[in-house]
Amino acid sequence: MNLTLKIWRQSNSESKGKMVEYPISDVSPDMSFLEMMDFLNGRLINKGEEPVAFDHDCREGICGMCSMFINGEAHGPDRLVTTCQLHMRKFKDGETITIEPFRANAFPVIKDLVVDRSSFDRIQQAGGFVSVNTSGNTQDANSIPIEKYDADRAFDAATCIGCGACVASCKNASAMLFVAAKVSQFSLLPQGKIEATDRVRNMVKQMDEEGFGNCTNTGACEVECPKGISLENIARMNREYISTLFKS
Ligand code: SF4
Ligand code: FES
Repeated sequence: MNLTLKIWRQSNSESKGKMVEYPISDVSPDMSFLEMMDFLNGRLINKGEEPVAFDHDCREGICGMCSMFINGEAHGPDRLVTTCQLHMRKFKDGETITIEPFRANAFPVIKDLVVDRSSFDRIQQAGGFVSVNTSGNTQDANSIPIEKYDADRAFDAATCIGCGACVASCKNASAMLFVAAKVSQFSLLPQGKIEATDRVRNMVKQMDEEGFGNCTNTGACEVECPKGISLENIARMNREYISTLFKS
């Protein structure tokens, strides 16, 4: 395949970025998108040019690091896959592909396609956990009966990989789908109910402090989420949050 790549280049968070065009030939349709980026970087390095900085880690759809906006969509044109699972056969020979970082005030660009998503870490630290006594007397989780429906919904919510595609796809740069998934994975389980009030209050407070926008129910987040996290999690989080207003 012969392609033209239009890639966002930006030296650091202070500098002004711009789109730079790179023609690239001999791309295999069987390459993953990140392998194609490696291929491009090899050629840039051979020519003495600066390689394109981009984030990646697992390359198997687990870590959520490969945050790229490809042809106007977070993680590109395929559905329910991350950028690292996207293959070049999804594109046409001769196509021009636009590649940008995830854009949101709460995700400042560090370099080229790499953004700082530590705002997500701070939201998690505000309440995305269950306090467990690990003294050795902890009850085996399997001894606590949980309705199948609740277990399945909690598991679905727990598949959120914290990639940030929901934020990048939202016109308001809202983090509601991410936060709702992290709240739901605990709120549906008995282990998570003990700290439920503080959790939803503190995580929503941190989300607002980080500068994410409000949810206006456009649903773009659900469409672009590589893990299929459902909007029903946002409804659940809203119900939980509203119920805390009647508690001390
Ligand atoms: S809800 Fe989906 S899009 Fe948002 S961070 Fe989680 S996995 Fe990524
Ligand atoms: S590199 Fe880990 S999800 Fe893509």
